[in-house]
Amino acid sequence: MKAYQLTAYGDADKGQLRDVAMPKPGVGQVLIKVKAAGLNPVDYKIRQGKLKPILRMDLPITMGNELSGVVESCGKGANRFPPGTRVCVRVGKEAMGAFAEYAVVEEAHIAAIPASMDFTQAAAIPLAGLTALQALRDELGVGPGYRVLITGGAGGVGTLAIQIAKSLGAHVITTASSRGRELVEKMGADEVVDYENAQFEDEIDSVDGAFDLIGGETLERTFQVVKEGGRTVSIAGTPEPRTAMQDLGGRFGLAAVFWAMSRDLRKQASDAGVDYRYLFMHPSGSELTYLVTLAQRGQMQAVIDSTYPFEKIADAMAELEDGHAKGKIMVTMDD
Ligand SMILES: NC(=O)c1ccc[n+]([C@@H]2O[C@H](COP(=O)([O-])OP(=O)(O)OC[C@H]3O[C@@H](n4cnc5c(N)ncnc54)[C@H](OP(=O)(O)O)[C@@H]3O)[C@@H](O)[C@H]2O)c1
Repeated sequence: MKAYQLTAYGDADKGQLRDVAMPKPGVGQVLIKVKAAGLNPVDYKIRQGKLKPILRMDLPITMGNELSGVVESCGKGANRFPPGTRVCVRVGKEAMGAFAEYAVVEEAHIAAIPASMDFTQAAAIPLAGLTALQALRDELGVGPGYRVLITGGAGGVGTLAIQIAKSLGAHVITTASSRGRELVEKMGADEVVDYENAQFEDEIDSVDGAFDLIGGETLERTFQVVKEGGRTVSIAGTPEPRTAMQDLGGRFGLAAVFWAMSRDLRKQASDAGVDYRYLFMHPSGSELTYLVTLAQRGQMQAVIDSTYPFEKIADAMAELEDGHAKGKIMVTMDD
């Protein structure tokens, strides 16, 4: 079968379409015939070697972190999704494997999708949707009346985050360029700050919490608008000790490294009375089922920026790496 593999860490040419053996499902695993897969910035960050200290992988490895498709066969002990079931999944972080004609995934990471849901739409939800859900609902505790700032509302995570925050009853303020304004308003944003022409701290009243998708000085400026006792959750800033302890399986050595790396940032946050958390999302079939249900009810829809045939995945990756996608970039596999 064809698979897009990472052959070595480095530039774009280290990602290659190759012929590889079909994977076989082990205990608790399921083999899926892939119909569509979503691209995410983490794909090129992995290729560049930026996640080497966090994720342990043997190369070559088939890339890709989220997919939709049809169950082909099940390994021992995996019986919740029989052959023929339509599914989507955020695959295991160190296993990957979504950019292929067939993929083996953990049964616990899978959600079934209804016949009415298009495979491309279903493959666009898992990684960005779970990240947004875990940050907004679980880390920030967003609920009715909560005022949340989401920096970077027009991309893959942002477009779903706005809709999820609205479904939880929040007042949503987001940042976007003039190119993304119409889209984030359509997603339901209550207030939009044009990040190229204004600083959000000059434009908005204080918020209960911030979900930062940008990092750097944008992240630092959230500490000026989050109310005292509130929290900023970033997925693009600097990891901190809880990232290692809660999200990466309690790795003490890594926690010490992250403690040192995030020292200045944590000081800035605590001087402002704000709690700083860097979240590294996790796969979850049950949480993904919640998101599929939201989509089924019409409360959330993934925005597709562009779709490429699988053979053109290198072009899709180049567009992603450009950083201007409005919503998600996808690849689809032939039947
Ligand atoms: N820690 C985790 O578990 C986790 C999970 C998912 C994603 N992430 C990270 O989260 C970040 C966002 O992911 P994504 O998938 O949403 O990325 P994306 O889809 O590539 O985001 C692209 C969008 O960001 C907008 N943008 C760029 N710079 C901006 C700025 N300074 N202010 C506001 N908007 C800006 C762009 O708008 P314009 O082109 O109009 O400027 C574009 O529409 C990435 O760094 C990704 O690696 C982390």
